[in-house]
Amino acid sequence: MSIKITFRNNLPPIIRRSLPSTENEYFKNIAKPLQKRGKNVHNPENNKEKIEDILKELNEMIGLSKVKKFVQELEAFVEIQKKREKENLINDPLVLHMVFSGNPGSGKTTVARIVGKLFKELGVLQKGHVIECERADLVGEYIGHTANKTRDMINKALGGVLFIDEAYSLARGGEKDFGKEAVDVLVKAMEDHKSNLILILAGYRIEMEHFIQTNPGLRSRFPLHINFPDYTADELIQIGELMLLKKQYTLTPPAKIAFRNMLQNMNLVHPYSGNARMIRNIVEKTIRKQAVRLYRQTDPTREDLISITELDLTNDDL
Ligand SMILES: Nc1ncnc2c1ncn2[C@@H]1O[C@H](COP(=O)(O)OP(=O)(O)OP(=O)(O)O)[C@@H](O)[C@H]1O
Ligand SMILES: [Mg+2]
Repeated sequence: MSIKITFRNNLPPIIRRSLPSTENEYFKNIAKPLQKRGKNVHNPENNKEKIEDILKELNEMIGLSKVKKFVQELEAFVEIQKKREKENLINDPLVLHMVFSGNPGSGKTTVARIVGKLFKELGVLQKGHVIECERADLVGEYIGHTANKTRDMINKALGGVLFIDEAYSLARGGEKDFGKEAVDVLVKAMEDHKSNLILILAGYRIEMEHFIQTNPGLRSRFPLHINFPDYTADELIQIGELMLLKKQYTLTPPAKIAFRNMLQNMNLVHPYSGNARMIRNIVEKTIRKQAVRLYRQTDPTREDLISITELDLTNDDL
């Protein structure tokens, strides 16, 4: 490929400003203003924008009003403690280990990911990632095995959140069980890495309360408890619609009615089983059914590709 350059009146253009002759001059004249304009991760304005985006993501979740309020309180608390520290005022130590109690599919993991990202932008965590684990990832089968397995998970989570699902299963089996050793290693890690690791223990509410109450070492170390309630039928319908929308699908008006009826019938049989996770399974199955229906059709339109009809909705074998 060749580019042909023609000058007006056959004369080269006049360069009014002389080009910088040295590298130093280049940085003084040109690179600096460019650097200023460029995005800078340490720029507080930039962090503010990111924090707003993260809170928007949280607010877009359906329901969960108490959880949203709790996360916003945490944000305010962390910001104000940091400002107080700058002014040399007494500031509470930021002990941010938490207990998330709630049934499966109530949004615990999703909120933990949002909390991790938020704490990164607030400067509490270096990375803000979430490592999810359960008993089998922490507890070993012979002496010495558990401490190594638990430490491995802690090391992966450093700079972020270690999220332990069904945490009470670590107390299963009593005194002789290796689960106790995992708890001891976790408690020690909370001290050793207190400025760069947050633990979130998750699980069913009653079992969680019992686990925390019967472990004095844990009770004082987990000051933040939040309950994730089951979703109502209406919230589950909205969650389904949101999931479809995010994947660029919409329900036709008759499909909306069919979807609502289907969920209400299912709830009567099996109340709120699986919460949003159940909805995600239904949404994925519905999308597959739509694909099979359209595959048989010649030349489906863009509209067809987006629309979910009542034919795509079924609750068989769920
Ligand atoms: N309030 C909500 N609004 C929109 N989507 C949601 C909401 N709650 C959960 N979801 C979606 O439902 C699915 C399951 O949620 P999540 O994995 O966070 O639940 P969980 O409580 O961690 O479940 P489990 O205990 O089974 O691990 C995810 O795809 C998530 O995005
Ligand atoms: Mg989960």
